[in-house]
Amino acid sequence: MNNGEEGITRRSFLKAAGAVVLAGAVGYPLMRLWTGAVRTDEAPFALPSQAPWIPWNGRERAYRLVVTRERVAIDGGPEFEGYLINGAFPGPELRAVEGDRLRVSVVNRTEGPLTIHWHGVHTPTSMDGVPILSQEPIAPGETFDYTFIASPSGTRWYHAHIDELEQIPSGLFGPLIIEPAEQSLSSASTKGARDVVLMLSTRASSRPRTGGMGGMMGTEGMMGRMMGRGGRAEAGLVYLVNGRMPGTLSPIRQRGGERLVLRLINASATEPFWLEAEGAVFRVTHVDGNPLSAARFVRDVYIAPAERLDAELIADRPGALEIRSRLQGQETLRIPFVVEATAEESRLPDEASPIPWSYAALGGGAGPSLAPADVTLPMVLSGGMMSPDWTINGEVYPRISPAAIEEGQHVRLELFNHSMAEHPMHLHGHSFWVTSVGGVPLRAPLLKDTVNVRPMERMTIDFVANNPGHWLFHCHQLEHMAAGMATVVTYRGLPLPNIVDHTASG
Ligand code: C2O
Ligand code: CU
Repeated sequence: MNNGEEGITRRSFLKAAGAVVLAGAVGYPLMRLWTGAVRTDEAPFALPSQAPWIPWNGRERAYRLVVTRERVAIDGGPEFEGYLINGAFPGPELRAVEGDRLRVSVVNRTEGPLTIHWHGVHTPTSMDGVPILSQEPIAPGETFDYTFIASPSGTRWYHAHIDELEQIPSGLFGPLIIEPAEQSLSSASTKGARDVVLMLSTRASSRPRTGGMGGMMGTEGMMGRMMGRGGRAEAGLVYLVNGRMPGTLSPIRQRGGERLVLRLINASATEPFWLEAEGAVFRVTHVDGNPLSAARFVRDVYIAPAERLDAELIADRPGALEIRSRLQGQETLRIPFVVEATAEESRLPDEASPIPWSYAALGGGAGPSLAPADVTLPMVLSGGMMSPDWTINGEVYPRISPAAIEEGQHVRLELFNHSMAEHPMHLHGHSFWVTSVGGVPLRAPLLKDTVNVRPMERMTIDFVANNPGHWLFHCHQLEHMAAGMATVVTYRGLPLPNIVDHTASG
């Protein structure tokens, strides 16, 4: 039967589960799961011709975000010099319906410059929040009005785009939920459901940042970063859920007969999350806010920095459970969850066995070969080991040669991770299809805006060049980004602002 759910046979699941246990000891499983061989008798995946953005529906939604620099004290957690948005850490949840015109006035009441980026939203370049490329930074005391059509629908988020490694963990981020317009295709999967946003982030547990030389020289500062430190061991991280210590959370309650959609957002500057819930599986419907071709049942979910995931928890039976991380060092990340009664339609169908997490599994396994693209751009991701730099095609931002594309082209980026670190790569201004992983085309490519490329992995992502402008393509592991892992995709014929240092291109 085809009820929009897909799974794999129990036998292959059990085999795969064994592999996960082994691989789990050393981190995220490197094995891949295919539900079939490469098929050659099917037509290749054709990119849908997306409009750059959907037309304005005549409604406007206005927000005012006042940013202040303050002492932030997290209940049961660290205290630090950080940012509040309208008095809150992190920033408030913004909501709009797809097609609304969003007007967000950002008031800078801090001592330094800032910009806000709308991650996953198709804005024009001028509203994209990248300093110089998009706009002059918002100076202290000034206000900037971001206006754009809310599109595409889904779980989006916003965050600072200057000195991201410092500003984002300090509070300059928040959820942006764009609800589907009535007739939208993706509305069926969330209809009649309540949603709960779970914004996961990390923060150094001690050593308040001092700024100035302390900030530059400390293990969390520039020098620490260059020496490849920062993150895990040295800084000592606390894990936050909606800005709170997990121990202070009251349980999420799934009431009888209710469908509860969790919108998971990874706002951590550096850390991935690998979550599971004993006695339950996740029914994943959206990745990065965009609908999957079919809902997938998975035992665990892996969310790299900046990725999002919409999922329901399908429990065996009513009762209390915990969503927790499988990653070493993240033992404190526990989210209490109570299933008061299981909704009929939220039961695990017999024919849907849960699968271990992978893009390949979410994308339905191996599909027909890739359609030809108009232009294919290699993006080689390197760094680490003895080098302080993280690079794309050997270049360190902003000393880069921009990749030029033309409006209307079917563009393919060929990613090759030539390093031993994961790189969650994000393209501004567009959504792209993850069309192949490890050289194998996906049967149902995933529509995303951030894709996690694992060590030594190859991937292709495809998009229609439908939003003329200048767009950052960068790693969302912000230590990597700060150390150069960013480049610019630009549309031919548009004058490029003077951000890029052309000396690299000779
Ligand atoms: Cu989420 Cu360039 O960022
Ligand atoms: Cu990276």
